[in-house]
Amino acid sequence: MAEKITVSLIKADVGGWPGHATVHPDLIKSAEETLKRAKDEGKIIDFHVTGVGDDLQLIMTHRKGVDSEEIHALAWDAFKKATDVAKKLKLYGAGQDLLADAFSGNVRGMGPGVAEMEFTERKAEPIVAFMMDKTEPGAFNLPIFKIFADPFNTAGLVIDPSMHAGFRFEIWDIKEHKRVFMGAPEELYSILTLVGAKSRYVIKRIYPKEGGKLPADEPVAVISTEKLYQIAGEYVGKDDPVALVRAQSGLPALGEVLEGFSFPHLVSGWMRGSHNGPLMPVSVKDAHCTRFDGPPRVVALGFQIANGRLVGPVDLFDDPAFDPMRQQAAEIATYMRRHGPFEPHRLPLEEMEYTTLPKVLKGLKDRFEEL
Ligand code: 13P
Ligand code: 13P
Ligand code: MG
Ligand code: MG
Repeated sequence: MAEKITVSLIKADVGGWPGHATVHPDLIKSAEETLKRAKDEGKIIDFHVTGVGDDLQLIMTHRKGVDSEEIHALAWDAFKKATDVAKKLKLYGAGQDLLADAFSGNVRGMGPGVAEMEFTERKAEPIVAFMMDKTEPGAFNLPIFKIFADPFNTAGLVIDPSMHAGFRFEIWDIKEHKRVFMGAPEELYSILTLVGAKSRYVIKRIYPKEGGKLPADEPVAVISTEKLYQIAGEYVGKDDPVALVRAQSGLPALGEVLEGFSFPHLVSGWMRGSHNGPLMPVSVKDAHCTRFDGPPRVVALGFQIANGRLVGPVDLFDDPAFDPMRQQAAEIATYMRRHGPFEPHRLPLEEMEYTTLPKVLKGLKDRFEEL
């Protein structure tokens, strides 16, 4: 039996350059140095550091399992050191996502976003790291649903006997802090009842069904679900989410995984975390959030894993085949922008609860008369 491997994708905004647009290269260099030392010491097997929008992204492989204190402490240390660099450069919102002063065993609940999974490395193990900026965890619901449950997206659900039984969805209610497991295709409509309400129900993990090619207890996809405002109790920045998705041999093919992002659907989190806008699939070099601090972006880096080594990355949306989707996203961005401060460009009031808007409303309170 092959040894299990853990892939950890941990991200934080520790300072934007300029504003909330990008990550300064010195922050990437600083994080690379921290992780290089950890690799030399044998703490991790391999790593890749990148920036998407203003979020610093650490992709690591190791054999310590999920929620490892050692790995989370390493990520925290990398973010802290990068924050020191950000402070020297007076970058915008230096340390923005590090909500605690000292590390306390696990970065979950401390600000950074985490997607990690442990699994038995297959003969060939393709994996994609998805990283979004200017949006929230629910932005993954639509593409992940399409990839693992929609036969119009994923041909393998129809024509590959090893996928025909479908997949198991782990869905979290992020307001009530509860979770439910549901099977696709048999519970498709119930799954959609929940995950269509993406600000409340988010897909956390996908598992293979029992009796298939892959172990049913090892996830094949995982999405970060951290909501910063729920941790901090007020708006401190956004919960720009990340995900890991494995592909091929009993799972959606790589191209079926990427096809899930071929529709620039509307997501929340653009400008001040307060607006809806289209999700644009881009390469790393185009992951610069400039137009009205956006529009929201998603980057996909692909790797083959070889005994924990990250063979890659391949910048998967760096492909002219995605130009029409980018063009469409740019047009939708213009259309949405013309609404200015009106819904549905601006988020509905309930979702504005954690922004600065309630302070403005408070100032008007005494002006209201009974009707
Ligand atoms: P696998 O079954 O090996 O994943 O091959 C499917 C495929 O790549 C078709 O495009
Ligand atoms: P970040 O959460 O990416 O820092 O963006 C903040 C924002 O709302 C920019 O308009
Ligand atoms: Mg920022
Ligand atoms: Mg961000």
